[in-house]
Amino acid sequence: MIVIPTHMKISVIGTGYVGLVTGAVFSDWGHDVVCADIIEEKIAMLKKGVMPIYEDGLKELVNKNVKEERLSFTTDVAKSIKESEVVFIAVGTPSNQSGSADLSAVWAVAKTIGENLNDYKIIITKSTVPVGTNERVWEIVKENSPEGAKFACVSNPEFLREGTSIYDANNTDRVILGSDDPKAIDKIATLYEHLNAPIVKCDFRSAELVKYASNAFLATKISFINEIARICHSAGADVKVVSEGMGLDKRIGRAFLNAGIGYGGSCFPKDVEALYRTSSDHEYDFRLLRGVMDVNERQKYFYIEQIVRHFKGNLSGKTFACLGLAFKNNTDDTRKSVALEIVKMLRGEGARLRVFDPAAMENAKKVLGNDVIYYAKDLMDAIEGSDGICILTEWQEFAEIDLAEAKKTLKKAVIFDGRNLLDPASVRKAGFEYFGIGRR
Ligand code: UGA
Repeated sequence: MIVIPTHMKISVIGTGYVGLVTGAVFSDWGHDVVCADIIEEKIAMLKKGVMPIYEDGLKELVNKNVKEERLSFTTDVAKSIKESEVVFIAVGTPSNQSGSADLSAVWAVAKTIGENLNDYKIIITKSTVPVGTNERVWEIVKENSPEGAKFACVSNPEFLREGTSIYDANNTDRVILGSDDPKAIDKIATLYEHLNAPIVKCDFRSAELVKYASNAFLATKISFINEIARICHSAGADVKVVSEGMGLDKRIGRAFLNAGIGYGGSCFPKDVEALYRTSSDHEYDFRLLRGVMDVNERQKYFYIEQIVRHFKGNLSGKTFACLGLAFKNNTDDTRKSVALEIVKMLRGEGARLRVFDPAAMENAKKVLGNDVIYYAKDLMDAIEGSDGICILTEWQEFAEIDLAEAKKTLKKAVIFDGRNLLDPASVRKAGFEYFGIGRR
């Protein structure tokens, strides 16, 4: 536990990735935290020490802080608000039909906060919310709170990644605090000062946009390198070498330049689209983002085409070992997973599938069902008797595949590496045909 100068009583509303990790980390920093959610099953699980999500180190962190009585869980949202001086809104903001963010959960929480405002509180939005949301939160709280009630609102977007969220929370590159109330900003800044990260103090709208602009920029890097991979494919260059070479320029950086089957997950697809909607709402056509989304959508077809071409246009009756189902490594999350979309596309082409993911099997089953899909016990079980290996998620385990062992049980020694995890030369040396994304 870190000894912090200002001890706070904190309520975090919403126990998804952001809420749960934020609550656990704040309690570990020494604050009194109650995590509240209206979903009873989730709270019941958490009270028993069972995590609703797979996240490295989360269970240990939660259980340690519960034991030391700094962290608790409740479905009584009203009570959690009344007993706290700082209230974090960390509910989901999924896409609605038009692609913009569905803010109904944020509005509902703001109303509940207003109705339970018994003394001065700072209300902080952690959820990813479009420009103008925090101003509306302020209004809703005001409309629903007793006459003369005092409060402040602060926008404090979260930048943690699934799979490394606890590390990210303790090692953030920056803290963004947006508000029209400088005193509230200064108070919330004390929560983060021990991290020694730059703290950007600004207005609501700029803070809200930092989050969307950051996610959209990272997504742009991925679509950019995926386009470069297409050129590498046609021109006989190697995208890995190109991204290494580009990344050595400090102005560019090496991160998020891994070409693959396209970005997925619960954030990038939703946030890029929501930012595009925001720009349209302000009568601006954000052309670049249109391109980013278009490239991402097409990338999986590029991958599938290589497989179809290799099997001369007919995948019917062929069996593929699909390695990876999660949207990325170190998570069981399959939301907007391109891996799952590829599995469905291969099935649509008449292929049989033997799938394996170190963490996401259960979540994938809910989406894929059992039709022509065999859920393998492990990597080698998935490979057995297959006509080819499709690497779909960037798990380290797949990068370390024992090629000699795999070759013994495969019908055909061919690998379609959708994440560029393997070294083409070594794979070919082991007697395989190799197809990557823009590899030589
Ligand atoms: C992303 C951001 O990285 C976080 O900073 C942000 O807080 C989070 O969204 C959010 O808004 O909540 P996350 O969705 O956990 O985090 O996943 P990333 O690690 O960013 O990966 C997103 C997708 O891009 C994955 O499908 C991944 O496989 C893909 N990717 C990533 C690539 O294809 N190439 C790369 O070089 C990097």
